Amino acid sequence: MRLDKLLADSGYGSRNDVKKLMKDKLVSVNGLIVTNPGYKTDEEHDVITVDGEIVRYRRYAYFLLNKPKGYVSSTDDPDSVLHLISEPDRNLFPCGRLDKDTTGLLLITNDGDLAHELLSPKHHVEKEYAVTLKDPLAEEDLERFKEGIVLEDGERCRPASYTIEDDHHCRLVIREGKYHQIKRMFQAIDNEVIELQRIRMKDLVLDDDLPSGCYRELTDEELSSLRRRDPGSEED
Ligand code: URA
Repeated sequence: MRLDKLLADSGYGSRNDVKKLMKDKLVSVNGLIVTNPGYKTDEEHDVITVDGEIVRYRRYAYFLLNKPKGYVSSTDDPDSVLHLISEPDRNLFPCGRLDKDTTGLLLITNDGDLAHELLSPKHHVEKEYAVTLKDPLAEEDLERFKEGIVLEDGERCRPASYTIEDDHHCRLVIREGKYHQIKRMFQAIDNEVIELQRIRMKDLVLDDDLPSGCYRELTDEELSSLRRRDPGSEED
């Protein structure tokens, strides 16, 4: 891979910023200063430094975004969540969909294999939501989620688990991702979702202190646990 691309992908600025670093003789490969932006590196083996700091190249990028309302989970929309991510263009996309008015955890990546692992209906990846409801909750209605509720159009959901927090708030864990699923599940028990926030996907948890509209990189531990396939998941 070209050295300027590798450095830009690794967070050292735009290709022009990176060229300047090289011109200023701040970039070295295996101990030798390199000033040619097109220099071909072996990203697996070369030791690359910028101003003495070793560059940690990541083939893929992984960000946890705290999605605000008003943004959509598609890549080519004026209101795309990608406008919240100020990173070099690396073909990032949101892993999964949240409605425009849903907030919370959204994984932004360019790793298609991981996205497939997490989104495939066969892998039953857990997604947990904090739900605020218009009408008071009745436990006997929620019980119907446990067996797998049938939506108004006849579609059956997989069993979901829940915790009631108070009359109008609960946590719901689902293991699939049908269109508007949670809103439709509550419609099926004659209630209405007025606020929806995703707080967890598998072991990846939304930080309490990550402001709405902000994002952070995943840690190595978070990434390995996202990659681990749960025992209950079906083969592809
Ligand atoms: N279920 C919904 O209804 N909306 C979302 O955004 C996510 C799950």
